[in-house]
Amino acid sequence: MHVRALADNRSMKLAVIGDIHGFWDKCDTAYFNGSDYDALLFVGDFARWTNSLPMARMLAGLTRPAWAIPGNHDAVTRLQLYAAIKHRPLLGAIAGIGMGWRVQRLTETLGPVKLRGFSLDRLGTDLALLTARPHAMGPDRFYYRNYLKHRFGVGDFQASGERLKALVDQAPKRLIILAHNGPAGLGSTSDALFGSDFNPAYGDFGDPDLRVAVDYARASGRRVLAVVAGHMHHRNRKTGSSRITWVHDGQTLYLNAAYVPRMRRDGSHHHHIALHINGTALTAEALFVSREGEVEAREALGPAG
Ligand SMILES: [Fe+2]
Ligand SMILES: [Fe+2]
Repeated sequence: MHVRALADNRSMKLAVIGDIHGFWDKCDTAYFNGSDYDALLFVGDFARWTNSLPMARMLAGLTRPAWAIPGNHDAVTRLQLYAAIKHRPLLGAIAGIGMGWRVQRLTETLGPVKLRGFSLDRLGTDLALLTARPHAMGPDRFYYRNYLKHRFGVGDFQASGERLKALVDQAPKRLIILAHNGPAGLGSTSDALFGSDFNPAYGDFGDPDLRVAVDYARASGRRVLAVVAGHMHHRNRKTGSSRITWVHDGQTLYLNAAYVPRMRRDGSHHHHIALHINGTALTAEALFVSREGEVEAREALGPAG
């Protein structure tokens, strides 16, 4: 375990970095290495389109403890992603050959940034990071099924939900959940936290297996402090408007960190989210940081007070 286990397990500060999609530079590495974050959480989609390795090489320079979940753009080929989007199962099966090897290569290239999926890592004596199904892409199909079946024995949403529930059974009292796509149940409009903007007819584009896991964790008496995810980018593809970026349901703060691109063209205004955890209290804010590491803007996420 690389995270310092805090003596009273009271206070912890985490950074959440949304879909990078090629937008990470040495200023980011310097900023986070010089920060006081206890850990960094990456929600995946490192690749601009499908080659994640250039970003992974840069992220390997991080010295803070860090965890990541792969997104649907990571460790896949162009043809594989195309087949997934266009629902061409046979082409997808053929193009998907070698995904296990690509994930392994990405894992090794990320170096100290731990690439996870269907996993539980302890952040403190009673606080854990549960990392959900990797490469999540949406609820309309079970994407990358062949790889997930081969690697994890998980071939559908129900099996994925059961796998996540088994992880919850091993978890301590407090949980942070790291996912690529968010859970179902947070709204069906195109500007909802994980609502479909590319095809509003899909409505709620959150994942049902993740919803099962969150509900199960809470029903079993655990406190899910936050669910952090991305994938559904903030900017609406059709209207250009911005989606809702957080929902708090009285117990859990759900965050969509996919501010894409996460910096301006001139290299300023680098986005990430800061989480402050104190016992069962959690607060969050979006931060925009300059090339020099100065906070240029900040926005509170979550209910006031
Ligand atoms: Fe993305
Ligand atoms: Fe994605």
